[in-house]
Amino acid sequence: MDLTLVTEGRTTISVPCQNSLVPFPPGTAPVFYNSRMALNRDTTVLVIRQLSPHSYLDAMAASGIRGCRVGNETDVPVTLNDRDLMATRLITQNVRSLGIQAEITCRDANSLMSEEKFGFVDLDPFGTPAPFIDAAIRSSGKYLGVTATDTAPLCGAHLKAGIRRYMARPLNTEYHTEVGLRILLGNVARHAAVYDKGIIPLFCYAHEHFVRLHLQLKSSASAADKSIAQLGYIHQCPVCPYRMEEQKFFPGVYTCPLCGTSLTPTGPLWTGPIHDQDTLSGMIQDAETFIAGDKSGLTKLLNTCWDEPDISFSYNYHKLAKYYRLSPGPVDILLNRLRDEGYIAGRVHYSGYGIKTDAPLEVIRDFL
Ligand SMILES: C[S@@+](CC[C@H](N)C(=O)[O-])C[C@H]1O[C@@H](n2cnc3c(N)ncnc32)[C@H](O)[C@@H]1O
Ligand SMILES: [Zn+2]
Repeated sequence: MDLTLVTEGRTTISVPCQNSLVPFPPGTAPVFYNSRMALNRDTTVLVIRQLSPHSYLDAMAASGIRGCRVGNETDVPVTLNDRDLMATRLITQNVRSLGIQAEITCRDANSLMSEEKFGFVDLDPFGTPAPFIDAAIRSSGKYLGVTATDTAPLCGAHLKAGIRRYMARPLNTEYHTEVGLRILLGNVARHAAVYDKGIIPLFCYAHEHFVRLHLQLKSSASAADKSIAQLGYIHQCPVCPYRMEEQKFFPGVYTCPLCGTSLTPTGPLWTGPIHDQDTLSGMIQDAETFIAGDKSGLTKLLNTCWDEPDISFSYNYHKLAKYYRLSPGPVDILLNRLRDEGYIAGRVHYSGYGIKTDAPLEVIRDFL
């Protein structure tokens, strides 16, 4: 295997050379490495530096970049696992050259997680994490990280696959990214509840082609009940921009108050907060000094998440303006006007055109 050195954060490892001439270079190497996921790994390092779990499992480690970064950039003892022998050989080489303490295993992630417990369990599979969530919840003593790159099923572009994977109905709308994030969270909450565990989202976000969750699991029947109570639906009008959020186990049946059409429910999905304020503020401070290199994308993501209102859907303000046949002014002026009138209003982290507000559509239209 021809190798090349890459540096992410404060960690340098060897990864296989890739053919940069094809549309997806990571697919051309015998062991997977995707430089576009560096921001995903930056956030994991920052979360772990806030939590200090007693141990960390990178359950699908590939080159080992994620587990190596945790081992090298935090004080947490790490285990790196991959079922692929070539991957674990590369991991061994990377761990040795970094001089970090790490367990390395070559096993099926589900069988490893069914046998051993870790403070923080991290899932980073190809595509959907759905087949690994149950074992990860059983294996995790306290924290869970989940990456999903199957955005088409999660966000409603592949409706039937989304229903099969997540036992929820996605919806391909202008805020489908958020629907995907919340469907995945809702799915984890339902799996956790089976084991009398509740979830507390610490830092969950969607970016480019992936959704990333960092959660705390709380062991008690009442914590599980509290999580289940946060499940619900978004009801979207298929004709006009009207939508509403409902926090309920079974969805109600509603018609649009603006145009009389039957609303389409999407869910069950998580309607609660997607960030923990203390964790996120600690990450923002730590990112200033700790993360090396260009961190403009990371800082922007963290700060937008900090400012984002706690609402489960957003509007694309360009689409709204088009629907009302208006030419929209600057988004910040619209948001300031809404806030001046006492409404909650802010930007969203996954789209430059997205806004969240509790103002009714008539009010948004007037301010547009
Ligand atoms: C997307 S890559 C992981 C990327 C890596 N975490 C990173 O940050 O670069 C997925 C890896 O999961 C491994 N894998 C797939 N199914 C697995 C399973 N059932 N058990 C263990 N490893 C598995 C593959 O061999 C592959 O190396
Ligand atoms: Zn309507």
